[in-house]
Amino acid sequence: MVSRRPHLSIGRNSLKIGGVDTKSLAERYGTPLYVTDLGRVLERFDEAKAALTARYPDVLIAFAYKSNSTFQVVSALARRGAGATIVSVAGIETARRAGVAPKDMVFDGPSKSKEELAAAIKAGVGMINAESVQEARDVDALSHSLSVKGARIGFRVNFDIRAETHAGLATGGREHKFGVARREVIQFCRREAQKLRSARVVGLHSHVGSQVADPEVFRRQTEEMVGLAEELEATGTEVAELNLGGGLGFPYTKEDKELPIGYYAEATAGSFARSSWSGRTRLVFELGRWVVADSTVLLTKVNYVKSAGKVRWALVDAGMNDFIRPALYGAYHEIVPAWTSSAERSAWRYDVAGPVCESTDVFGRGRRLGVRLSQGDILAILDAGAYGSSMSSTYNMRPLTAVATVEDGDSALVSPRGWPPGWKARPRQRPRSG
Ligand SMILES: Cc1ncc(COP(=O)(O)O)c(C=O)c1O
Repeated sequence: MVSRRPHLSIGRNSLKIGGVDTKSLAERYGTPLYVTDLGRVLERFDEAKAALTARYPDVLIAFAYKSNSTFQVVSALARRGAGATIVSVAGIETARRAGVAPKDMVFDGPSKSKEELAAAIKAGVGMINAESVQEARDVDALSHSLSVKGARIGFRVNFDIRAETHAGLATGGREHKFGVARREVIQFCRREAQKLRSARVVGLHSHVGSQVADPEVFRRQTEEMVGLAEELEATGTEVAELNLGGGLGFPYTKEDKELPIGYYAEATAGSFARSSWSGRTRLVFELGRWVVADSTVLLTKVNYVKSAGKVRWALVDAGMNDFIRPALYGAYHEIVPAWTSSAERSAWRYDVAGPVCESTDVFGRGRRLGVRLSQGDILAILDAGAYGSSMSSTYNMRPLTAVATVEDGDSALVSPRGWPPGWKARPRQRPRSG
């Protein structure tokens, strides 16, 4: 399993990422610590870009910042030609600082505030994907009042496409809070789009969920988008950008279905290239997980080992606040020893859990790590690059998680451990009476 991660090398009692020994990283920067191999991120990005452009040349991968918002990651991707899919004002600012041209930014989200829409309009974001007809009206009204001509609206369309994935990652069903029904989009374009004062409807968007491995889902999504673009032409709305979202799954376990990038590209860019709309639009992809998932390990130190009934616990210093995927989605992540004080082989199984006072703060159950663990040993949780550090919090008033990167054999601490908000607050002084 580990051999498919070419940037990792697991030796007896050692783990290297990008050629750098993780024990030295843990000693230098402390734990818990995310370590991201920037070269691996770029390798995956290049692979995706090559597979897509081989089938259709006019492609933008607007990397989904929500999956990993480490500045060094997004700026390295921007230098490689990635755009940005963002969902907040800080996202717009981060993309701008990373060097992404506004035309290559996509602003998503089912419930944007007026302030967020105004910030996107002022920044000249390339596409604001509206998730209700009212939002499209708001974009127009705001851009008019801001005297900005030509704000670009895309409609996120809900085609009622159900992808097989975790319920918490599915977004394409009719009843979900995401997107606008096809019928409503047509109605809006027929009755209102030509009357907009400052904004224009120029794009369509669809994202049916994350961690999807079925090519038929992506093929159908592409076909639906082309069908709708054709239909909208008759209403006078010219679709100049089709955004097929993200969602390509990553195999975290041997059992997970894997959709190779070439098959994904065939189902999306390939189907599009053969369609009637080919050559008429830029194709945008909002990939996140697939690009960054395996780039990162989360290093964590064993604080205590203890037995409770039949369970042998390895209690580590990373918690669900640092890495919430196992607690939130029951996600499986491989755990390997990065360094242990005893080299003695062991068939013992461990439940690996964190310090947070929640019974769901568990990273893995019954894991055979091949060694006998003791206090001070270091474990690595693998494939933690997507929705890892970007979903971390300060719950339990724990410090915000730290992130290091490795590149060309060197390392840097790029996001230091932060203190939780409020920890330094002083009680408000009561006015003296009398
Ligand atoms: C609208 C939208 N676009 C793109 C993404 C990125 O998806 P993924 O990381 O699965 O590629 C998400 C995440 O779920 C999303 O909600």
